[in-house]
Amino acid sequence: MSYINKIAIGAVQKAFYENALTHREIVAILSDDKCDDTLFFHADLTRKTHNGDEVHLKGLLEFSNLCARNCYYCGLRRQNKAIKRYALKPNEIIKLAQKAIACGYKTIVLQSGESSAYKLDELCGVIKAIRDMQARVTLSLGEKSEEEYAAYKQAGANRYLLRIETTDPALYKKLHPSMSHQNRFNCLKTLRKLGYETGSGSLVGLPNQTLASIADDILFFKESDFDMIGIGPFIPNEHTPLGGERGGDFILALKVMAIVRLLLPKINIPATTAMETLDKNGRIKALQRGANVVMPVVTEGEYRKLYRLYPGKICLDDTPRHCRGCITGKIMAIGRGVSATNGDSERFIDRLAAS
Ligand code: 5AD
Ligand code: SF4
Repeated sequence: MSYINKIAIGAVQKAFYENALTHREIVAILSDDKCDDTLFFHADLTRKTHNGDEVHLKGLLEFSNLCARNCYYCGLRRQNKAIKRYALKPNEIIKLAQKAIACGYKTIVLQSGESSAYKLDELCGVIKAIRDMQARVTLSLGEKSEEEYAAYKQAGANRYLLRIETTDPALYKKLHPSMSHQNRFNCLKTLRKLGYETGSGSLVGLPNQTLASIADDILFFKESDFDMIGIGPFIPNEHTPLGGERGGDFILALKVMAIVRLLLPKINIPATTAMETLDKNGRIKALQRGANVVMPVVTEGEYRKLYRLYPGKICLDDTPRHCRGCITGKIMAIGRGVSATNGDSERFIDRLAAS
């Protein structure tokens, strides 16, 4: 065993027992591929110990691809004229949610680009209608004002996902023209203050992103004590300014996810669709390396294709019912089951009990 390898293996063992790591230790783990098996084994054991074997399935409803932002990596960016835009009507969104709930989903994740296409009352009406169907509502609508976040919460929204994407200020600035990094941090604080079960996350493998910068992201997640963290490899999209760049590495994304599991044992961690895009068994591999959630798409028909953040999106021609059956079969084949609970994270349950 080399000296470097000893440091990385030692760090994994420390993280397993103490749920803590220094910046230097995270970089050591990320740089050493010989510690991968130990890392993945301990991340899986941590997932099992704190969250059990059941996987939460949450239905991802991509209700509009309109976006006013111009993030350099994303296919929904405003300046991408190569995609047809859509915005489902509130009653169409509710109908799709109803079908997903009938398939067994206990959480509906309402996701869209960042836009003001919907009136506040319309979105609140959708949230309320879904809550009335006894499902949890997760929102992923980007940066909004405190008043809007509060109104959605009042209407019944339970959770909010807002990835920080990267904590590196220079990299963030380059990739997000005319967006404020500070505002994004503020939004995350506001969401927590309002009582949302709050999720964040990052992209792995962005151009010019260093391992040191990824280690900063991981430490930010730990320090912020989020309830959910989604890690996705960057996948270049030909209709964006980063179309010609190298994409993120699947194993590196899995390693980042596994370290997050060691540091935040009780949070929810999705096996992301972007991972499955890079590896045809990516979500199952993620579930065996720390993840405990899958978010199959419940959007139907051509809208599934039009919500195209990056190329190679999976299951484009499948129906929501088929997707649910397919992922359930894969989960059962690795000896796990689908959770019948509402999908709150163990971390959030603890937080509520303590308040
Ligand atoms: N590759 C991988 N993930 C992407 N996202 C957007 N564009 C890409 C891409 N090209 C992710 C962002 C965003 C989430 C909804 O999708 O992290 O937060
Ligand atoms: Fe819009 Fe989100 Fe894509 Fe940025 S990442 S362009 S905010 S959909």
